[in-house]
Amino acid sequence: MSSVSVFGAQWGDEGKGKIIDLLSQDVDVVVRYQGGANAGHTVVVGGQKYVLHLIPSGILHAGRVNVIGNGVAVDPAKLLEEIDGLLERGVEVNGENLRLSSNAQVIFEHHKLMDRYSERWRGDGRIGTTGRGIGPSYADKAARTGLRIGDLLEPDHCANRLRAALAEKNALMEKVHGESGLDFDEQLAIYLALGKRLAPFVGDTGAEVRRAYNAGKRVLFEGAQGVMLDIDHGTYPFVTSSNTGTNGIPAGAGFPAKQIETAYGIAKAYCTRVGEGPFPSEQADPIGKRIRDAGNEYGATTGRPRRCGWFDAVAVRYGLELCGADGLVVTNLDVLSGFEEISVATRYRVGGEEREDYPADLVDLGSVQAIYESRPGWTEDLTAVRKYEDLPQRARDYVEWLEQLVGVPIVLLSVGPDREQVIPRGLFVAS
Ligand code: IMP
Repeated sequence: MSSVSVFGAQWGDEGKGKIIDLLSQDVDVVVRYQGGANAGHTVVVGGQKYVLHLIPSGILHAGRVNVIGNGVAVDPAKLLEEIDGLLERGVEVNGENLRLSSNAQVIFEHHKLMDRYSERWRGDGRIGTTGRGIGPSYADKAARTGLRIGDLLEPDHCANRLRAALAEKNALMEKVHGESGLDFDEQLAIYLALGKRLAPFVGDTGAEVRRAYNAGKRVLFEGAQGVMLDIDHGTYPFVTSSNTGTNGIPAGAGFPAKQIETAYGIAKAYCTRVGEGPFPSEQADPIGKRIRDAGNEYGATTGRPRRCGWFDAVAVRYGLELCGADGLVVTNLDVLSGFEEISVATRYRVGGEEREDYPADLVDLGSVQAIYESRPGWTEDLTAVRKYEDLPQRARDYVEWLEQLVGVPIVLLSVGPDREQVIPRGLFVAS
């Protein structure tokens, strides 16, 4: 395994942070290729909890190179806050083990403000964004009015580009949203200072990653969010603004598609979503609440309660197929202990018709109804189980049922937040 993609196969929050952390032990380079500080990867190491938003989880392992690729939208202040937080806790972060693409888009203060104002403007049609400026920054990238990290290192160039960008944003904030604009000189000074501090990390990361791979180094691509939040293939418009699966790697990391050798999807043993938008297997009832309480389902980035429901085999199958997954990792299996019955959405009803395939061509995904099948649950606590054969029969039956439904092998199970709380099933995980 010289290059491996790990992506969320649901609506994000699948527990990717822990799995990426485990796999990081076995690779040389860890690369983020999309998203920004809207992500929140929680990793527990030696009883200590780390929540990483922008920096790849490989930073917690000595000797790994961690790359923030060109496809990431970077809030420089947040990144420096994260760097400082890690340094304070004794984690080594320097220009050798953290690399930042000079071509990554910058998230400015005006992007964060516009994120909030646009959501307010949308009213009932709001997306429920994380408010981190992601959409407005990617919108500017597509409009070619955005600035990139490299621009922050060139004061005159930065001044010219920021002046033009802010003039338009100030007009929008003042005239459309009835808010005050931002002072150009102040913003320029803030972002040039941030750029100066980030300079030691900045480079041509695409070339660096390709060079490492060609020299035989093992590269792990760390997805943020999940396939159902992918801007092209997810539940548009209730999505994030990037390509979240394996499909985002070539553009977002500058890495050839044909060199992505292995791909693993990550899914919870049930399903959650934060923000607005279709969620066919949602249980907006006591069952959903029970899952939320058992799984402590609150957002790592915003603290919002997550919407909870049963495993949606239709959506996961779709995400795995889209990304060419070789296997699936199922997390939070322990959370389902104690449910008398466990259901899975195995098909959808779409306009009176039953379908097993995900209706990606449907305009109103909210009109889809999930059709469930159920199996008896188990009562035993799974958190101390480390071998597949030690799982209760009903838990094994559930895993094998999911495996049959999603069409790829389930290669690893996770039964708790700690690194060691895993049950291997084919995927080698160094310890
Ligand atoms: P944005 O990415 O902040 O623009 O938010 C767009 C949608 O993606 C909203 O529904 C967010 O809740 C969702 N989202 C963004 N990042 C994450 C994540 O890391 N986990 C789960 N949902 C996310």
